[in-house]
Formats: sequence, structure tokens, C-alpha cells
Amino acid sequence: MIHFNRSIPYNTLPSLPPKVDLETKAILLKVISASRGLAKLNGAIRKLPNPTLFIDTIHLQEAKASSAIENILTTHDDLYQALVSETAFENPETKEVLRYKEALWLGVERMKSRPFLTTNLCIELVQAIKGNTAGIRHGEGTTLSNPFGEVIYTPPSGEEDIREKLAAWEKFVNEESSLDPLIKMALMHYQFEAIHPFADGNGRTGRILLFLFLKQTGLLELPAIYLSEYIIQNKNDYYRHLRAVTEKSDWEGFILYILDMVEQTANHGLNRMDQVMDLLKETNEQVRMRLPKVFSKELVELIFRLPYTKRQSLTDAGLGTLKTAGSYLSALEKAGFLTAKKVGKEKLYLNTELMRILENNALE
Ligand SMILES: Nc1ncnc2c1ncn2[C@@H]1O[C@H](COP(=O)(O)OP(=O)(O)O)[C@@H](O)[C@H]1O
Ligand SMILES: [Mg+2]
Repeated sequence: MIHFNRSIPYNTLPSLPPKVDLETKAILLKVISASRGLAKLNGAIRKLPNPTLFIDTIHLQEAKASSAIENILTTHDDLYQALVSETAFENPETKEVLRYKEALWLGVERMKSRPFLTTNLCIELVQAIKGNTAGIRHGEGTTLSNPFGEVIYTPPSGEEDIREKLAAWEKFVNEESSLDPLIKMALMHYQFEAIHPFADGNGRTGRILLFLFLKQTGLLELPAIYLSEYIIQNKNDYYRHLRAVTEKSDWEGFILYILDMVEQTANHGLNRMDQVMDLLKETNEQVRMRLPKVFSKELVELIFRLPYTKRQSLTDAGLGTLKTAGSYLSALEKAGFLTAKKVGKEKLYLNTELMRILENNALE
């Protein structure tokens, strides 16, 4: 039995896989329902006419929630506007959230050429999130505390030890194994957080790794899932389960938590995607009927790419000059499909109905 002391660097953190039963009946049952949800979502994404249509939006939601878990708060409206607007967004929190989204894309790109989760990739991700050149921790002194200032966990110390632990982690993650990939995903997430290789950004890097793992294993071809939606709504359980693994080797509780996250966010994502597709179809028909001179499939798709749009985006998409684009947008506004909003010197147009679906975040 390895003794754990929450105030002493946990350099005795055991490597994966843990020596407990990882295939209990409860876990296996949950693996089935979570995999089923994920498979349905993956099938639906494949059938989308334009699969990259919502991905920006989903990633933005993910970026917002994953950052909010760490108390970096920003509103949806700020974010969506920041994405399309040229007006400088000085709010550092909004910037940090946007960087998380960039990091997620960076990870997806890297996986295309080299489909492995590595220490170097983790470093690239954390640097993208933090917008600096941070590396593996070398000094001592990193502790995790609760809101009362009590130390609840002290991760391993010493760069060399941390690198060794990451190397073992990397080997486990990329190696073939008979474990179900979703169980493996839970293990790798705990282990990464327990190693806590960086001074900051470990939670967010660890959550981006979840998407990359889903892609690596082929469970989800496009990372069009909003996993942090679950964590943000069940945040205390997230922390409690992480601790219970360290303190009591309660892997079952943690694995069930991760599986429930996958199942619920897959089902909810599918549901939301259905609603957006219905709205897209309906909008196509309505615009075609009521504004035949303005209508094109490309134009309607464009106002669904992100909740906010502007003249320049239409012109960039080859839909006409700025003047034409402006007349299209005001026609859509007059007919009630969009709402205009002035941001700085720019006029942005909001797809209100789309935003309403996106903002409805309640998990079943
Ligand atoms: N008891 C714990 N043991 C290991 N990891 C934990 C524990 N409690 C929280 N964490 C992880 O640490 C993360 C916070 O670490 P931090 O480096 O500040 O990341 P970020 O800056 O992205 O928030 C949490 O999101 C969680 O993933
Ligand atoms: Mg932090």
C-alpha cells in the first residue's frame, strides 16, 4: 500500500494501469450505453451536409466551459462577437478562452500528421492555451488547494521525475491494449491530472486530450462534442472523484463519471444537432419563399456557421461585394431572420434562433 500524504509531492504516483478491477459490471454496462451514444453522434456528424458547419460553435462552447471550470469566465456573447469582429477584445479572459479554442484545433491538426498523444504535444497545447512558452514544471511548490485554502493534493516534483511519468503515460496511451478505449480514456485523464506537469493549464490541456483521444481511437472522427458541458455542471463530483482515486483507489467511481460525461454529452449533442438541422432546413425554405432574390443555399449556411456574421464574411465566402452582402444582411434582418447589433464601429448580425438553441445547455 502506497501511503499518500496530500501535502507531500506525490512522486510515488503508481503508473497505469491500476491494479484494481477495471471491468466491473457497472463499468461494462456504462461502457455500452456511452459507446452507443457516441456511435450515434458520430453517425449523425457523418451525415451532415457540411460537417464543419457547427464545429466552430461547438469548440467555442467547449472552450468557454472548459475555461469556466477554472474560473476564467466570459459570456457567450462576448466570445461569438470576438470571433467575427475586428474590434480589439481587450478582455484577457475572452482572449484566454479563444486561445483554448485555437489549441483544440492545433491538436486536431497535429493528430492528422502524427496520431499520437505525446509529451511534446502536451507542451505545445499548454503553450497555445497560455499564450506563452511554459514548459514542464521544474521548481517545487505546486499544490492544489480547495476554496478554503487547504492543500488537497501535491503533485510529483522534479522535472526529471515528471518527464519519466509522462513517458510512461505516453506509452500506455499509445499502446494497443485489450481495455475498452473509453475506460482507457478515463485512466489517462486521471493520470495526466495527477502528474500535473505544468504550473498552470493542466485541467484544460487534459480536457483537450480527451478530444484528441476520441479522434485517435476513431470513436469520433470530428471532435464535435461538448464534453465540458458535463464537467461544468458536475464540477464538485469531478474534483471529488479525482481525489477518491488518489486517496482510496476508487477507480470505479471516476471511470463511471467519465463514461456518464461521454454518454450525456453525446446524447445532448445529437439532440442539439437535430434541432439546428431542423432550423437550417426551415430557414432555407422560408428565405427561399420570402426573399427569392436574396436566397442561396450558401448564404443560409453562412448564417449558421456561427451565431454572428457580418458583411465581410459574406464577401470572403464569394457571395458578392460588400455592398451586395450588406443588402442581403439587411433584407434578412428586415424579414426577422437576423438581429443587427452594433459592436464598436462594426455591425454584426445575430441568428437569434440559432443562439437560442446553443444557449439551452441543460443536460437531461
Ligand atoms: N485532487 C486532484 N488531483 C488531481 N488533479 C486535480 C485534482 N483536483 C483538480 N484537479 C485537476 O486540476 C485542474 C486544475 O489545474 P490547473 O493547472 O489550474 O489547470 P487550468 O489552469 O487549466 O485550470 C482541474 O481542472 C482538474 O483537472
Ligand atoms: Mg489554473
